[in-house]
Amino acid sequence: MSPGAAPGPVPPAAFEAAPPGGGPSCLLPPRPAPCTVVIFGASGDLAARMILPALYDLHRHGALPGGLAVVGAARTPWSDEAFREHARRALERAGRLDQDAWAALAPRLFYQPLDYADPGGCAALAARLDELDARLGTGGNRLFYLATPPTVYADLARNLGAAGLARQGRGFSRIVVEKPFGRDLGSARALDAALHEHFAEQQIFRIDHYLAKETVQNILLLRFANAVFEPLWNRRYVESVTCAAMETLGVGHRAGYYEHSGVLRDMFQNHMMQLLALVAMEPPPAFDAEAVRDEKAKVYRALRPFDPDRLDADLVLGQYGPGAAGGAAAPGYRQEPGVAPDSTTPTFAAMRLWVDNWRWQGVPFHLVSGKALREKLTRIVVRFREVPHSLFRHILGEDIGANRLILDIHPGNAVSLAVQAKLPGARLCLQPATMRFDFDAAHAPARALDAYEKVLLDCMLGDQMLFWRQDAVEQCWGFLTPVLERCEACGAQGAPALHGYAAGSWGPAASLETVQGLF
Ligand code: BG6
Repeated sequence: MSPGAAPGPVPPAAFEAAPPGGGPSCLLPPRPAPCTVVIFGASGDLAARMILPALYDLHRHGALPGGLAVVGAARTPWSDEAFREHARRALERAGRLDQDAWAALAPRLFYQPLDYADPGGCAALAARLDELDARLGTGGNRLFYLATPPTVYADLARNLGAAGLARQGRGFSRIVVEKPFGRDLGSARALDAALHEHFAEQQIFRIDHYLAKETVQNILLLRFANAVFEPLWNRRYVESVTCAAMETLGVGHRAGYYEHSGVLRDMFQNHMMQLLALVAMEPPPAFDAEAVRDEKAKVYRALRPFDPDRLDADLVLGQYGPGAAGGAAAPGYRQEPGVAPDSTTPTFAAMRLWVDNWRWQGVPFHLVSGKALREKLTRIVVRFREVPHSLFRHILGEDIGANRLILDIHPGNAVSLAVQAKLPGARLCLQPATMRFDFDAAHAPARALDAYEKVLLDCMLGDQMLFWRQDAVEQCWGFLTPVLERCEACGAQGAPALHGYAAGSWGPAASLETVQGLF
């Protein structure tokens, strides 16, 4: 069957209100057209922790369309009422429940029990959606959010297509998939082929919630809406770039997934690669989804393949052992429920890679991420080269700290520039100083959209800017698959050692220098 017919033009994003100056208000999100959001895996963890609270918050802030239905679908044999109660409890647990807002949203929630592998389930769903369209004015627009284990993505996409639910015409039909998009190049291609049996690329939204974080979105604006950074943004002035996503949480109850993923599949193939591309990409000719994603794909194409026999030169892998967190003893990875006692799954990686193009030749990019670390810190540091000649050697010695541009993604949303400055006083004394712009403080009480709110809204609006395109998915898998194969082949030559580190530390000693570069 051919992919769904091309959607009609997406209605221009209308701003709800204009500020006194007359321009569009950035504080109010554009409101999408009426639609039905179908959440597959509605009884699961992702729906309860992320999707339902995000929908509810959008509703509370008036960002959802008037004609809206939310249909939960899963194997659990619930009624509409049982699903509403499940959603209410999830919001209560998240500390979000406001009775009035909930009373307005609850009647828009419905539930359809369904076996993902059974084509009959999607046929019954189609009939239910038609009935809701007629009753609630949802305009025939459907968003299918696959919050299920990835193993059922292909079946579900096929069954949706067979039930005619991928077809567009009267309204849009979009399918939203969460990472992992496969577990290597071959499986990523197979998944994509299954999605494309019925859905066209413009209908497929591959989520990476990192792209919706405020400071991450800001990287391109900072680079391309200001004249001062771009002239310096190259090998001549930049010495190194470090992108870090350090986490305090261990694997918790996710061992079933994580044991087969490890940090490289869980964080590097997606979030870390996106951070890298946003820093390294060329200016796109236009600020639209295809132009931006074209430039990212060029970065991935320019990644220098690792030498499989010398992986340990560029890759440090680690796994947390017992340690301490928040003043209490914390278990090691192998003691976590569901983890094999002899597991070799890495929970930490520090990788050095090179972008082989004119702009970045010779500049190392360090990507580092791990679980059960001392602090949660998501940060990008662009370290500039030192001054070519120091007039101030007699004060500072040879070691004059280089300028650093620091993009803080968590905690806070801030950009800082570390410089050298004169200390006030009669004598000439220099000290490092920081110029810091804090987005949250500067724009209080404006409310930034949480990452899941932003991606849900963009799916409804049909804006693919913050979503993965398949060519980039394949390029990243193409880059990482040989690394994974070598790391996972027992005792392979050149495979990096698995270093231990204590839970609550900053990771293995072997990557200390990279981590120090973050501060
Ligand atoms: C997810 C990973 O994609 O991102 C998790 O599967 C990780 O393992 C999470 O904890 C980190 O996201 P954030 O937004 O907390 O940095």
